[in-house]
Amino acid sequence: MRQHVNPLSINFNQIERIPPLIEMFDDPRLNLHLDIGCAAGQSLFNLALVNTSWNYLGIEIREKLVKTAKLKAREREINNLYFVFGNAYNILNDVQNKFIIKNVKSISFNFPDPWFKKRHYKRRVVQPEFINILSNSLQKGSLIFIKTDVKDLFDYMDCTISSNLNFKKIDAKNFNYSQSFNPCEVKTNREKYVIVNQLEVYKRIYMKI
Ligand SMILES: C[S@@+](CC[C@H](N)C(=O)[O-])C[C@H]1O[C@@H](n2cnc3c(N)ncnc32)[C@H](O)[C@@H]1O
Repeated sequence: MRQHVNPLSINFNQIERIPPLIEMFDDPRLNLHLDIGCAAGQSLFNLALVNTSWNYLGIEIREKLVKTAKLKAREREINNLYFVFGNAYNILNDVQNKFIIKNVKSISFNFPDPWFKKRHYKRRVVQPEFINILSNSLQKGSLIFIKTDVKDLFDYMDCTISSNLNFKKIDAKNFNYSQSFNPCEVKTNREKYVIVNQLEVYKRIYMKI
């Protein structure tokens, strides 16, 4: 079941500072993947356990989920996984936190909240200003992965990212995942639900050029 939080609420104006890489991960030199809207982080736990040659950072706006995920990662001593609470846009737009974008190799937006009503579109996480921030700081060759089961949201995200001339589309169908953050193509919770219910998954990959 989807649980919506209004990301534009003033509750999210306060920003969590992202710690330096060395404080978040055992080996800060590893490739870093950023997952935006990771919910309880189940897929990130699966990824981090299997792919120990990558670091994973999840950003999620539901504080309780982040607290639980952080605790779980610490208890299980998973040292290539970290979680940050808040509105991803506010967090990554913050001067102190911008360093993280320079360090990420890839970013995923997996099944973001669709906000179906037109007057709520501004609550969608993928926005031109957000993509601008990413395009200004990402290293060339970095990738953005989007996935959703909502065609309208897919078109909206695709249009928003494609309108930024610093990104070009990659062929997602023939993409070789073996060298990516997700070599075993681990599915998120929403993705599992979508597959079981035989709904369509719309996905695309973009590269910073
Ligand atoms: C539909 S769920 C998908 C969760 C997961 N990615 C998956 O595929 O199963 C969308 C998630 O994004 C989070 N979210 C929505 N807007 C956000 C924002 N601006 N910043 C961070 N997280 C956000 C929601 O709280 C929710 O957990």
